[in-house]
Order: sequence, then structure tokens, then C-alpha cells
Amino acid sequence: MTTKHEDTREWASTGVVLERIVMPVVLDACCGTRMFWFDKEDSRTLFVDKRVGTRVIDVGTPGTKGRKPKVVKPDKVVDFRNMPFGDNSFHHVVFDPPHFYKGAGKTGRIAFDYGLLDKTWRDDIKDGFAECFRVLSPMGTLIFKWCEAEIPLREVLELTPNKPLYGHRSGKKAQTHWVAFIKA
Ligand SMILES: C[S@@+](CC[C@H](N)C(=O)[O-])C[C@H]1O[C@@H](n2cnc3c(N)ncnc32)[C@H](O)[C@@H]1O
Repeated sequence: MTTKHEDTREWASTGVVLERIVMPVVLDACCGTRMFWFDKEDSRTLFVDKRVGTRVIDVGTPGTKGRKPKVVKPDKVVDFRNMPFGDNSFHHVVFDPPHFYKGAGKTGRIAFDYGLLDKTWRDDIKDGFAECFRVLSPMGTLIFKWCEAEIPLREVLELTPNKPLYGHRSGKKAQTHWVAFIKA
């Protein structure tokens, strides 16, 4: 049997035989329902989020309609502003924080699937970036995802002193950005 362990530093320092432990080398710092993952149970990855929850959705076409649960079930409940991992613990980090403000109309599916930003969002994302870079190993890579439906990417990139390498736009309105960084 293999086990994912959330703190690679701790295992390394105990001297425990590691043969049967899958050491996560990737961190998803706010995994939500893991929508963008090819394999939602990827064994190389530690999936964390600040919440656990379930929402039941309708699936199928009229006549073949069914109900299916969507779940937020992180490997560990973690706040990305203060992560319980040692420095330089992961080779790759993906950071996809909420991008909609809390407010009227932002309930139901949007709130469940993407989470919502608080008034303190600038500090929250700034701290999240700092923590993602702290737990990232030297020469490790970070992918930051941002949908600029409400807040321009430019404003959010100002919240980290790290310089992005390159990026890609996606979505019908090309509002979603995938931005690559390296900890160099
Ligand atoms: C845009 S969604 C992530 C969607 C995910 N990438 C996917 O593929 O489904 C943002 C997530 O950030 C989480 N979140 C918000 N604030 C957080 C915090 N301080 N620490 C950890 N997770 C947080 C929310 O609960 C939400 O699940």
C-alpha cells in the first residue's frame, strides 16, 4: 500500500524507510473540485484547500437526467496564506485562487466551484504567492491561474516580486490566464 504524506520534510528527518511512501512532489495549493486535473487522484500531488464540501448537480440531457455530487475533498485542509510545509518542499506548485468578489449573485455554482474573494483579497493573494514560493524548491516551477472577469491580471501580478516567464490565455472570452514562474 502506498501513502501520500503531506510533509516531506518531516519524513525525511525521521529517517523512516521511504520505499513504500509516495512522496508528493507537486502541490495544488487550492484544489477545489480538481476540475482542471486529468487525473483527480494523481499520486504525485498533494491536493489542499481551506474547505471541504459537497454540492449535488444535475447531469445529462432532459429525459436522461441524473444527479451527481461534486466534492471538494482535499488531502489536507490548509490555508494557502500559512502552509504547514517546510521550505523548498515541492518541485511544482499550482496556484489557482478564487477570482470573484463576494457579493450579490455570487452564490451557488460560482461560489462552490471557484470560492470567493474577501475584502482582504490583495493581502490574501500576496501571502498565498509568498507561501507558494517558500514551499517551492529552487528551480521549481509555479503555474498561476487567473480569470480576469473582475480584476485585471496586471493588478494581481503586482502582488508578487517574482517575475513571470510566459503565459497563455484560454476560455471563450480569453479571460483566463495561465502564467508560468520559476524559483530561480
Ligand atoms: C478557483 S477555485 C480552484 C479550482 C480548481 N483549480 C479546480 O480545478 O477545480 C479556488 C479555490 O481556492 C480555495 N481557497 C480560497 N481561499 C483559500 C485559502 N486561503 N487557502 C486555501 N484555499 C483557499 C477555495 O476554497 C476554492 O476551492
